[in-house]
Amino acid sequence: MENNINHVGVIGLGVMGASLAQNFASKNHNVAVYNRSWDKTQSLIDKGVSGISGYQDLVDFVGSLESPRKIILLVKSGDPVDKTIETLLPMLSEKDIVVDMGNSNWKDTERRYNEYAGKIRFVGCGVSGGEEGALHGPSIMPGGEKDAVDELLPLLQKISAKDFNGNPCVTNVGIGSAGHFVKMVHNGIEYAIMQGIVEVYDILRSFDLGTGQIAEIFRKVDYGNIQSYLLDITINILETQDKVDGGYLLEKVVEEAKAKGTGGWTAQSAIEFGVATPSISAAVIARIMSARNQSYVTDKLIDDLKEMRTTKLTEPEIEAMITPIFRTLEMVYLSSYLQGLDLIKQVGDEKNYQIDMSEVTRIWQGGCIIRSQMLTMLDLFWEEDKIKSHKVLYEIKKDIAYIRMLHGKSHTPKPVLNATYDYFQSIFAGRLPSNLIQAQRDYFGAHTYRKVGEKGDHTGGWNQ
Ligand code: 6PG
Repeated sequence: MENNINHVGVIGLGVMGASLAQNFASKNHNVAVYNRSWDKTQSLIDKGVSGISGYQDLVDFVGSLESPRKIILLVKSGDPVDKTIETLLPMLSEKDIVVDMGNSNWKDTERRYNEYAGKIRFVGCGVSGGEEGALHGPSIMPGGEKDAVDELLPLLQKISAKDFNGNPCVTNVGIGSAGHFVKMVHNGIEYAIMQGIVEVYDILRSFDLGTGQIAEIFRKVDYGNIQSYLLDITINILETQDKVDGGYLLEKVVEEAKAKGTGGWTAQSAIEFGVATPSISAAVIARIMSARNQSYVTDKLIDDLKEMRTTKLTEPEIEAMITPIFRTLEMVYLSSYLQGLDLIKQVGDEKNYQIDMSEVTRIWQGGCIIRSQMLTMLDLFWEEDKIKSHKVLYEIKKDIAYIRMLHGKSHTPKPVLNATYDYFQSIFAGRLPSNLIQAQRDYFGAHTYRKVGEKGDHTGGWNQ
């Protein structure tokens, strides 16, 4: 077996691993590939991509890599990541770089970063873009030891997507678990935007609009700030005919959304660190609700609700909804990004990730699932005064009641639209009723309160 001939190694040849290996090879890198079972390696080799060498033995795989070795793991997150690294450790040296590119929980990444320090250089790296992205250009979010990530960058720059200015959608995200934290939040934002779009779809179908008509409406709002991958694919999905039985394919899909966990982790992290991400949390709960496992609801009640959901709209009424829909979606996109970025900023500061926030919004401009035109504007988020006075916020404030009208028009559940509306209302509200919460806390638990315009804590003084 020839030594030191491969530039990079990929372990785990599921859809993402096999696609990334081909992406590397297409950029003139020699790639060593390994999979626990040989069949996947064989089917990748059968594609005949030049530059890819398959190995049956991990020792040969490692031996084929130039030093310091760069090994990318695309194995199932959780235990398989630890097991694979444990197997590799005796074959590697402290300068070798092992990159976990799966959707790992950032807490596992943090543990691994500390556990493997001095043995290998461990990098936790988020990748977004699905199969298509992995093959032709994903958004890549590596984090870990600065030197290790910097050493990887030239390799990753070649395979990544490009931002709006043609630069690679990859950056050194930050220290420790920063890469996986940022990818997790990316997914939380993904959940919220997806759910916001589907709630608008639900409103429209509750007015008895056909799937094709709804596609036309979405086409009309897929512009400006919210021109985006998720709206593009939604339109394609709505227009798709069932190639087997005819009719719209979407209408035959079971109304239950699954989740692998990253959205839930985002909501959990937000609560853990005291950051408000109501749109993201609502989207997570909406997926849970979609399982319809609330045993106390009888079928009869569900049928009655279905009947309430049909009011036909006239053509002029449909036309009049385009602007409210655009504004509503703009509000969903903006609140999802702001909440996610706020979470990254606050946790990043607390954990000293050393994240350059404008780099995060830049590397999301291409390749990833949440890419949209709005990301250009969000570059300004970090120059606080600019975002505080950004014209979109003024527009949202102006149109918020108008948007509320769209919400109120149908009986469909709108967890993300409502959470988003309330998020901005809470921000814009001159006053919040939390004085009463604090008073209640003090009343039953002597938790103290502060008086307006006075220093120091008070307790008691309430009628008993
Ligand atoms: C991406 C996606 C990708 C995956 C999601 C699906 O950025 O490419 O986010 O990572 O499709 O994790 O997540 P759920 O199964 O939780 O919807």
